[in-house]
Amino acid sequence: MRDGQAAQSAIRLADYRPPAFLVDQVTLDVDLRETGTRVSASLTLRRNPAPEAEQGDCVLDGVALTPERIAVNGEQLADDRWHYDGRHLTLRALPDQCTLDTVVTIAPETNTALEGLYVSKGMFCTQCEAEGFRRITFFPDRPDVLSRFVTTVRADKAAFPVLLSNGNPVARGDEGSDRHWVRWEDPFPKPCYLFALVAGDLACLDDVYRTGSGRDISLQIYAEPRDLNKLDHAMASLKAAMAWDEKTYGLEYDLDIYMIVAVSHFNMGAMENKGLNIFNTACVLAHPATTTDAGFQRVEAVVAHEYFHNWSGNRVTCRDWFQLSLKEGFTVFRDQTFSGDMNSATVKRVEDVDMLRAVQFAEDRGPMAHPVRPAEYQKIDNFYTVTIYEKGAELVRMQHELLGPEAFRRGTDLYFSRFDGQAVTTDDFVDCMEQAGGQDLSQFRRWYSQAGTPQLTVQDSYDGTTYTLTLKQSTPATPGQPEKLPLLVPVAMALLGADGQPLPLSADGQTETVLQLTEAQQQVSFEVPERPVPSLLRGFSAPVELNYDYSTEQLRFLLAHDTDGYCRWDAAQRLYHGAVQRLLDEPRQAEAEAAALVPALEQVLARAADDPAATALLLTIPGEVALADRLPVLDVDGVHEARAALVSALGRQLAAQWWVQVEANETSGPYRPAADDIGRRSLRHRALGYLAAAGDKQMADFLGDLCRNADNMTDELGALRLLCHYRLAGSEAALAAFAERWRDEALVMDQWFAVQASVPGAATLSRVEALLAHDDFDWRVPNRVRGLLGTFAGANPTALHAADGKGYELYTQCLARLDTVNPQVAARMANACARLPRLPVPRQTLLAQALEQLLAGTVSDNLREVLERILASRD
Ligand code: TRP
Ligand code: ZN
Repeated sequence: MRDGQAAQSAIRLADYRPPAFLVDQVTLDVDLRETGTRVSASLTLRRNPAPEAEQGDCVLDGVALTPERIAVNGEQLADDRWHYDGRHLTLRALPDQCTLDTVVTIAPETNTALEGLYVSKGMFCTQCEAEGFRRITFFPDRPDVLSRFVTTVRADKAAFPVLLSNGNPVARGDEGSDRHWVRWEDPFPKPCYLFALVAGDLACLDDVYRTGSGRDISLQIYAEPRDLNKLDHAMASLKAAMAWDEKTYGLEYDLDIYMIVAVSHFNMGAMENKGLNIFNTACVLAHPATTTDAGFQRVEAVVAHEYFHNWSGNRVTCRDWFQLSLKEGFTVFRDQTFSGDMNSATVKRVEDVDMLRAVQFAEDRGPMAHPVRPAEYQKIDNFYTVTIYEKGAELVRMQHELLGPEAFRRGTDLYFSRFDGQAVTTDDFVDCMEQAGGQDLSQFRRWYSQAGTPQLTVQDSYDGTTYTLTLKQSTPATPGQPEKLPLLVPVAMALLGADGQPLPLSADGQTETVLQLTEAQQQVSFEVPERPVPSLLRGFSAPVELNYDYSTEQLRFLLAHDTDGYCRWDAAQRLYHGAVQRLLDEPRQAEAEAAALVPALEQVLARAADDPAATALLLTIPGEVALADRLPVLDVDGVHEARAALVSALGRQLAAQWWVQVEANETSGPYRPAADDIGRRSLRHRALGYLAAAGDKQMADFLGDLCRNADNMTDELGALRLLCHYRLAGSEAALAAFAERWRDEALVMDQWFAVQASVPGAATLSRVEALLAHDDFDWRVPNRVRGLLGTFAGANPTALHAADGKGYELYTQCLARLDTVNPQVAARMANACARLPRLPVPRQTLLAQALEQLLAGTVSDNLREVLERILASRD
C-alpha cells in the first residue's frame, strides 16, 4: 500500500508540459503584522499560446492561505467560479487574458518550517526556493513562469525600519504615525522562487563596486547591529567574485544595487534571490575571534556562489526542478574555480574531490541514488543533494576539460546570450557546448540521466617496449535503473619513469594525455623504454571510482614523485585505506602498519614547508565514515579501533617530527584568513592531533593553553576539539570556560554543541540527551540542530550505532520531534541512516524497527519519502 501511495505522488520529468497560464506582471502588497499579515496580489494572466501547453482551468498553487478576496478584472468572483482545497486554487472559465486580484492572510509568526514568509529573531524574511512562494500568495509556483514584480512592503516603522525586496526602491512613504512602506521594482522577469522580502531593524555595511564598463553598483550587507563588525570578509569576497565573473566569463552585474541579508534561522546555506540574497548567518558572518579558517573559506565560497547565480540561475533559469543541476552544478563549478583561483587550486581540488568521494559516492551506493537530472521525485526539497550540486559540477568540469578553456568560454557565451531571460534544460546547456566545441556530446549526455558511480578498472602489461593499458567501465545498478550504458569517460594520465619524471607518450614529447573512453572496454598502448608507474585519473578527470591494483611501492613512488597534486593525495589515501583494511583482520599490527608508512610520511614531512596546506591533506587519514563505506558490511567498532590505533601509532613513531611541525607552523602577527596562514594552521593542528592521539603527556597542558590564549577561533576550537576527543585532563573545564566566553555568539555555540556530539563512543549518547535539554538548545534553529544532531547522526558512528540500539532510539525520537517543527531539515537529517542495508544484524534490525516505528506515526511528506526509500532498500 505504501508503495502504491509513493508511486501516486511521484512527479515525473516525462509528464512535463508548459503551463496553461503565464503571468506577465505581479503587483504585490505585503502588510506585515504581528498577527494577520495580509498579502494582496494582482496578476496579469494570459493563456499560454504554446500548443503543447496544459489546457483547461487556471490552477494556482497556494498552501495554508486564508483567502479574503478573489476578483477577476475588478469583479469579485462568484463562489462557483473558484475552489480552494488548501493546496490549489482552481479558477473556472477564466478569460484568456485578465487581471486576477487576490487578498490572503498568512501567519509568518508561527512558521517554523522556514519556507515562505517567516520570522527570524524579530525580522521578517522569506525563503521561496523551491516551492515556498505558494505559502505567500496564489501563484503558478513553477520556474517556467517568469514575471515582472513590483512589491510594496508595509510595516511598523520603529520595529522594522528596513524594508527590502528585489530590484530597485522606487517609492516610499508613511502611513499614519507609526507605519511606513517602501515599493520595490524588479525590471528583470523572474520565476517566483527568486522572490524575496525582508523587514527588520538591521545594520548595514555599505560599499560600491565599479564594473568593467564603469557602472557603480551599491553593495549592501545587512545584519543585526551586533554583527556589523563581522561583515568585512563577505564584502571583500563579493567584490572579488564580481571582478572574477567579469574576467572569467565576461559577465557583469545588471541591477544598480546588490543586497545580502544575514538570517539566523535558515534551512540551507544561502539563497540567490534577485538582487536580495538571503544568507544563513553561518555563511556570511566572519570575524577572527569567532570564525574558523574553514568558516572564512565557506563565506568566500558561498558569497561567490550566490553572486554567480545572478547569471547561472537567475538571468538563465531552470525550466522545471528536474533541471536543478543546470543552475546548481554549473554554479558550484564556477564557485569551485573561483575559490581555487583565490587560494590554492590544488588544495581546493583535493578538498572538493574528498567531499565528493566521501558523500556523493555514498549517496550513489544507497537508497537515495539518483541521476544529476532525476526522472522523478516526490518532494523536490529532498533533491538538493550532493549529486545535483557536486556531481553536477563534475559534469560541467568534464565539459570544460573536453572542450578546453577557449571553446568552453565560447559555449558559455552562447548559452547566456541564447537563453537570457528564459527557463531552460541541461540539454540546452550541453547543446551550446556541443556547438561551441564542434564535438559530438551525445554519449556524454548519459552522465545526466544515469545514476551511480562508474567503476573504472584498469590493468596493464609491459613487454619490454610496449606498455598497454586495458580500461573497463561499468556502472552498478541503482534503484530503478538496473541496466547501465557506457559513458564518455575522460581519463587524464601520465606514465612515470623510474627517476620519477613523466615519460614522453608520443613523438611530440607530450607527457600527459586525456584518454576518451567510450566503450565498455578499451585498450591503449605506448612505446616506452621502461616499465612505468601509471598516474591515472589526474586531477580527478571524471567522477568515477578507479580500481587499479597499485602495489605499496607504486603508491609510495607516486606520493613521492607525482606532479599531479590529486594523484599524490590519492596515493596517500590508498596507503591509509590499505593499512586500515589489514588492521581490521589483524588488530594488533598497528605499530607495524604505522612503521611501514613512516618512510613515505617522512618524505612528505621533509617537504612540508613548500606547501603546508597540501601537506596537511596528505597527512590526513580518511574519517571513520569514509573508511567504513569501503566495506561490504559496516564494521563500526572495528573501523574505529583500527583507525584510532593507526593514528596513535603514527603519533608516537613520528612524535619528534610532529613537534617540529608544531613549532615551524606557528603563524606570527595578527590573524589573517589568507591561504598561506590557513595552510600553516591546518598542518599545525594535524600535528597536534597526532600528538594527542599518541597520548603525549604534554598535550593536556599545551592544548589547554592554546584554547585559553588563542587570538582566533581556529586555534581555540581546534584545541578544544582535541581536548574533548581524547578526554584529556581539563577538557570539561575548557568546555565550561568556552561556553561562558561565547554564550552570546550563536555560531560559536553551534560549534560547542558539535564538539561534544562528535566525541566517539556510546557515552556520548547521554551527553547528547543532556544537551537537548540545555537552555541554549532550540529545535527551531537549524544551525543548532545540525550542530548537535547532525554531528551525532552524521559524523559519530560509534555513538549512533551503539550496539544496544540506544543511539537509534534517541535519533528517531529526535527526528519525530524535529519533523513537527521543520520537515525539510528532518528529512535531510534522516539520510544519515541510508546505510541501513549495510549494517550487520542485529543493528540492522534495531534500526529498521526504530525507523518503522517513526514512519508509523504522523510524519511529513518530506520525511516519509526518505524513510520509505531507506526501508525499501533492505532486502
Ligand atoms: N539555491 C540555493 C543555493 O544557492 C539553495 C537553497 C537555499 C535552498 N535555501 C533553500 C534549497 C531552501 C531548498 C530549500 O544553492
Ligand atoms: Zn546554488
